[in-house]
Amino acid sequence: MILVTGGAGFIGANFVLDWLRNCDEPVVNLDALTYAGNLENLASLKGDARHIFVHGDICDRELIDRLLAEHQPRAIVHFAAESHVDRSIHGPGDFIRTNVNGTFTLLEAARGHWMGLDAEAKAAFRFHHVSTDEVYGSLGPNDPAFSETKTYEPNSPYSASKAASDHLVRAWHHTYGLPVTTSNCSNNYGPYHFPEKLIPLMIANALAGKPLPVYGDGQQIRDWLYVTDHCSAIRAILQAGKPGEVYNVGGWNEKPNIEIVHTLCALLDELKPDAAGSYSRLITYVTDRPGHDRRYAIDARKIERELGWRPAETFETGIRKTVEWYLANQDWVAHVQSGAYRDWLDKNYAGRS
Ligand code: NAD
Ligand code: DAU
Repeated sequence: MILVTGGAGFIGANFVLDWLRNCDEPVVNLDALTYAGNLENLASLKGDARHIFVHGDICDRELIDRLLAEHQPRAIVHFAAESHVDRSIHGPGDFIRTNVNGTFTLLEAARGHWMGLDAEAKAAFRFHHVSTDEVYGSLGPNDPAFSETKTYEPNSPYSASKAASDHLVRAWHHTYGLPVTTSNCSNNYGPYHFPEKLIPLMIANALAGKPLPVYGDGQQIRDWLYVTDHCSAIRAILQAGKPGEVYNVGGWNEKPNIEIVHTLCALLDELKPDAAGSYSRLITYVTDRPGHDRRYAIDARKIERELGWRPAETFETGIRKTVEWYLANQDWVAHVQSGAYRDWLDKNYAGRS
């Protein structure tokens, strides 16, 4: 079996669902159920004995030791993190606690467990760390895309905390021999994406007739990857990735934010036309994110060359599926838009002109 952390969040839940669609190997899913964790994401696994959910914190060493001893997983796939850049600007403390101290705790527990394995299990064991392209910093318009050897230049509290966790993972391999792999992935999108992030926020606001808040001039560029393609990349790394290696994962889809917003408006105009006119009438430019990175781009040639991975979705197919999913799952959106969610919208958007 495998141990997944953060498997009730956006990518983690998609990974658990995707894993159990593709094989019968059980998953122990450890998640603290912060505001971003949601058991509704895993509702389709109710009664499925292959999924064991454990409500707990990756900073809890005793709990992790117990789970490793009891379930003897052959791999740990580590998603759990605070993941939202704007939240890291308003309050970086939780990011240091979970992303840095939590990863340290998990590494130490994994090392203790791994040291006690017999030679065969020791060689087969993997610790996969799920990281982000944001650790590499911001690109100019003509800079080459991030390769695995790009220097680290994190600019936000979020990306600095992820960079710190990447360094810990690297050191646990070099110093102790722990068989780790790391993936640095670009922006994911798809089902179960929490509506604080650009794509689900724009869909939710458009359907509610609210402003679509575009930061700054809207010309910041991100590379977009459909979430199940990220899941298949992680499966490929677990299967054939080499311990100590880093793999960049991306969709070859660089787009300025304003283009993403126009694409979403056009899809909504087609699939759920509004009598008041195109949803693009709601686009509103607001004060920029402090320290906003201008451009990310991923060079994903290494994972293609070494592991034969390529994304299955184009941006056009993935974004259409995503809008269709949100239209078909308005209850899911309504449930996550709790009081705490409304407080966040006030905190992040009320002060922007
Ligand atoms: P998310 O915020 O949707 O989910 C994070 C999950 O981790 C939640 O279920 C939350 O409850 C859980 N969690 C948080 N703190 C925890 C703790 N202390 N102990 C146990 N569980 C805890 O995040 P996501 O977007 O699914 O991202 C998952 C991982 O992928 C993160 O490590 C993130 O840095 C990385 N990543 C995300 C993207 C993206 O576009 N979303 C891209 C590249 C990498
Ligand atoms: O690049 C990978 C990263 O992508 C992950 O590591 C992070 O966990 C994930 O949250 C995401 O970070 P971003 O900051 O790129 O995602 P977000 O959806 O918050 O913003 C995408 C872009 O859209 C960014 O340039 C900021 C802009 N934006 C965002 C929001 C929420 C807006 O213009 N308006 C908004 O209201």
